[in-house]
Amino acid sequence: MQMDKKLVEEMIRMAKNQMKYSYAPYSGFKVGAVLLTDDGEFYTGCNIENAAYTPTICAERNAFFKAVGEGHRKFRAICIVGGKDGAMTGYTAPCGVCRQVMMEFCDPDMFNIILTAGDGSYKIYTLKELLPLGFGPDDLR
Ligand code: THU
Repeated sequence: MQMDKKLVEEMIRMAKNQMKYSYAPYSGFKVGAVLLTDDGEFYTGCNIENAAYTPTICAERNAFFKAVGEGHRKFRAICIVGGKDGAMTGYTAPCGVCRQVMMEFCDPDMFNIILTAGDGSYKIYTLKELLPLGFGPDDLR
C-alpha cells in the first residue's frame, strides 16, 4: 500500500524523538518506533533493557503492547530507527520476535514497515517481505 510522504516523514520524526527514551545501558543500542493504528492514532515505543537481559523488550513490541493494551487490534504501519549510542548509521530492521508479534495483529500484505538511517531516505517493506510464509492466527482457524 502506498504511503503519503508527509505521513512517513512525520512518523520518522516521531520515531527519532522516541529514541531519547530508550533505556539501553547494556547494549548501548537505542531504538525508537512509532506505530500507526488503522484509525490513524500513533503509539510510540523504545527498547527497555534489563540487568537480567531476557526481560528486555524491543521498541517495536513496546509500541504494539501499548496500543493493544488500549484496545487497538488493527495497524497500518510502523517506523523504526536505531543505532549504537543513538547514532543512526544504517537500517534497524525488526527482530524475528517482533516480526512474529506483527504477524498476530497485521495483514502481511498490507502492513508497512518503514526503515530509515535518519538521512532523509527511507525504504518501506511489507510484513510479508520481512516474514515470508509467516505463521499467524489464520493458521489456527
Ligand atoms: N532492539 C530493538 O528494540 N528493536 C530491534 O529491531 C532490534 C533490537 C533492541 C533490543 C536491545 O535492547 C538492543 O536493541 C540490542 O539488541
